[in-house]
Amino acid sequence: MKKILFVASEGVPFIKTGGLADVVGSLPKYYDKRYFDTRVILPKYMCMKQQMKDLMHYKAHFYMDFMGQNEYVGVLEAVYDGTTYYFIDNEKFFNGNSAYSDNVVEEISKFVFFSKAALSILPVVDFRPDVIHCHDWQTGIIPVYLKERFAGGDFYRGIKSVMTIHNLKFQGVYDIKTVKRITGLDSSYFTPDKLGHYKDGNLLKGGLTYADAITTVSQTYAEEIKTTFFGEKLEGILNARANDLRGIVNGIDYDEYNPATDTYITNHYSAQNFRKEKIKNKRALQKQLGLVEDDKKMLIGVVSRLTGQKGFDLIEYMMDEMCQDDIQLVVLGTGEERYENMFRHFDWKYHGKVSANIYYSEELSHRIYASCDAFLMPSLFEPCGLSQLMALRYGTLPIVRETGGLRDTVQPYNEYEGTGTGFSFCNYNAHEMLATVRYAEKIYYNRKRDWNKIIDRAMAVDFSWKTSALKYQEMYDWLIG
Ligand code: ADP
Ligand code: GLC
Repeated sequence: MKKILFVASEGVPFIKTGGLADVVGSLPKYYDKRYFDTRVILPKYMCMKQQMKDLMHYKAHFYMDFMGQNEYVGVLEAVYDGTTYYFIDNEKFFNGNSAYSDNVVEEISKFVFFSKAALSILPVVDFRPDVIHCHDWQTGIIPVYLKERFAGGDFYRGIKSVMTIHNLKFQGVYDIKTVKRITGLDSSYFTPDKLGHYKDGNLLKGGLTYADAITTVSQTYAEEIKTTFFGEKLEGILNARANDLRGIVNGIDYDEYNPATDTYITNHYSAQNFRKEKIKNKRALQKQLGLVEDDKKMLIGVVSRLTGQKGFDLIEYMMDEMCQDDIQLVVLGTGEERYENMFRHFDWKYHGKVSANIYYSEELSHRIYASCDAFLMPSLFEPCGLSQLMALRYGTLPIVRETGGLRDTVQPYNEYEGTGTGFSFCNYNAHEMLATVRYAEKIYYNRKRDWNKIIDRAMAVDFSWKTSALKYQEMYDWLIG
């Protein structure tokens, strides 16, 4: 039996702010249980729902040296959907009403503590992984520690590590003096070929330098991040390690996101009967959100963190023009205030036509995926993107910009060949986006039979974890040898 350990800052159903949680919470389920024993370590945040905390059992506790202090490390355990989870408990580091804060030094301390504790609990819970699979900058110090302070003991010797980039934008960067103090690493680690990054220390760079393999979440993003625009100043190391870097596209949990069984939606449907049944969800949503109740209006959805990454500048620029058309727009998201206020403003200005829902809701997100005709995601960059996969699964046609995983997962409609699962445009340009939305409107309003055939194809593509889980397993096999 090969032992794999995921270490990450979020995972469904325990804690989620974005797609990372979906991946961490679903991928381990799809590994072949006959060959892989996969477990997950997450922080035990105080902000987790009580219902989730109730699933956890106390396992052990000890004290660990961290920044010269003796810090409490509690270990809790839960088995969820066949996967064993361990949670690191420490109320000083994991307090607050959300998983993350804006204070960079606090974040770096929190996740270096978490990473060190994750390694330290392994002998205590008696789990020696063959591979530790680290996700994003929060766990970037783990591959470094494995080759540094944990390298001496028999227990840790030979453990391989994988660093997966879900989003290169976030790296865990601060001045060298502070990062040195928090990590306890000596100066030799802060040269430009290791954690040194201009004048700073960079945790993700540490992971990328020391991990035995690097992955990211789509093939296109794996290529993009080797260039200056997408490389976020790490293209140097990514090019240097190009042979160890692979792109494996994300999947989604096909049990969780299934229009035939989804408990959040009002009317179930499938690839066989969506022509009659899907519309009932749209009626219910229009009613629920106070949109004009009209079957015929093309309803476009957005479910997203409201950040620059997602292309909201294009939407802002074109919103008035788009609203001259015969469409409705429903938005669900939270994030940067300027985008939150922008959508609130348009909700006020085009009441009955635009619905802005500035909060987080699992239920409403599923209803939007199920009810809309199209799903808009004009990202500036997108490592993979899961929302467009959810939209495809629910027969809601994605309108996307051809970048990262969006390019790899949405095949643009070709009316001459009768192929494609959605609509896409190439340049980060508001007029191109508008032209593509309008092209989709034209097909929707004038060629409904063709529209429905696109839905047939969208609902037939398979973005469950099946294929990608195999690729990760092959990588583990290769690493373990
Ligand atoms: P990212 O990880 O960059 O945020 P993804 O498309 O990979 O983008 O994943 C986003 C995930 O977060 C999806 O599961 C999406 O449904 C969910 N999501 C984003 N915003 C909200 C919200 N306000 N309410 C509910 N779910 C949300
Ligand atoms: C990140 C990316 C997103 C990706 C997700 C899961 O949050 O922004 O594109 O789908 O991670 O890998």
